[in-house]
Amino acid sequence: MTASDTRIRSLQARRIWDSRGRPTLEAEITLANGSTGRGIAPAGASRGSREAIELRDGGSRLGGLDVTRAVAGVQGEIARHLSGHDALDQSAIDAALIALDGTPDKSRLGGNALVAVSLAVLHAGAASRRLPLWRHLAGEAAVTLPMPEIQIFGGGAHAGRRVDVQDFMVMPVGATSFAQAMEMTAEVYAAAGALMQAAGRRQGVADEGGWWPVFATNEEALEKLVTAIGHAGLHAGRDMALSLDIAASEFGAGGRYRLGLEARELDTAGMIDLLGSWIDAYPIASIEDPLAEDDEAGLVEFTRRFGTRLQIIGDDYLVTDAARIGAAAALPACNCALIKFNQAGTVSETLAAMQAARRAGWATVVSARSGETEDVTIAHLAIGWNAGQLKVGSFARSERMAKWNECLRIEETLGAGARFAGLPAPLAHWSLAHD
Ligand code: PGA
Ligand code: ZN
Repeated sequence: MTASDTRIRSLQARRIWDSRGRPTLEAEITLANGSTGRGIAPAGASRGSREAIELRDGGSRLGGLDVTRAVAGVQGEIARHLSGHDALDQSAIDAALIALDGTPDKSRLGGNALVAVSLAVLHAGAASRRLPLWRHLAGEAAVTLPMPEIQIFGGGAHAGRRVDVQDFMVMPVGATSFAQAMEMTAEVYAAAGALMQAAGRRQGVADEGGWWPVFATNEEALEKLVTAIGHAGLHAGRDMALSLDIAASEFGAGGRYRLGLEARELDTAGMIDLLGSWIDAYPIASIEDPLAEDDEAGLVEFTRRFGTRLQIIGDDYLVTDAARIGAAAALPACNCALIKFNQAGTVSETLAAMQAARRAGWATVVSARSGETEDVTIAHLAIGWNAGQLKVGSFARSERMAKWNECLRIEETLGAGARFAGLPAPLAHWSLAHD
């Protein structure tokens, strides 16, 4: 055994449990030099139709969600195939995984199996070099701490569809460090909870830790968010901007949008006008998936109307796919890509999506899923790849806090050299407009 021998010696997998108490898969790799790495597959609830497919057992046990077939694939076929590969050659390993699966959507071995293995390889490589993952990824390059987007009210598929909009978030645009961004967020999260309590509407939290959305309309959540920011002693707009994930594919298709809470149906133009009225009335800096993944013409029109005023993020529409991001940039539809490694299925494809967004001059947001674990890899990806922004859910529940806390540790490690990303590119004029 030599320290420089970074070939894969063994690969294991096990079933573990995610933040919704559902089965997921963890892969663990040991290299010839003794270094180890683990990777865990997270799970979405509002998924894009073109995401890498998770391999689940089906049937009635555990809601059909068990992963014994995916685990068996890692232990057997994948372990045999990767044995002896150099863990520091991530792109060769990812290419081997893709070729072994052999399907365009990773459905044979499962995107969940592939992403867990790909992440385990990445961690083992960093461990071999005795570097924290963010530094392993960044090399000698300077890094920035990401602007966070933090959910204050949950909604959509994460809150029993109590309201239609999925995420009501804040962005601490007035912060000058990640630590300060967290402190501002803590005040707003607490103020929002107190507001719900005082109104007799506090009913716990949704899947990502945001307050359960007991509102009469979607817009009421925006009003309450602005009120909470004020109660926290902050200026809504200058200190704390609003950010929405509409997740419109969840209630819209074929150019029809059905707002269940308000019992009305809108066409694409009506949906754009509704969002436009919110953009005019509230300090909204960013909107994700404003229209459904199948409504490309709507996304182009939305970007034409609002693309110079705010950040427009593609999630279900782009599914962390370099080719789709390149094609969308040419239209253009959106001006920012959400980056979720399990949509792509491997680390290399996730990086390619980041690079495609950067080539287009777009901003990027590294994002968690609604089904998460204690794993903090995305904090390292956001920093090591200089994504500029990070979205991991709310400011409660340890599967969320673990990621924020990891960023704080890295900021402290960087000491006086730590730099906070600040406003993303599409918001260059934001502070002037909201002073
Ligand atoms: P999901 O939602 O993880 O449930 O898909 C997160 C998002 O839409 O950004
Ligand atoms: Zn989304």
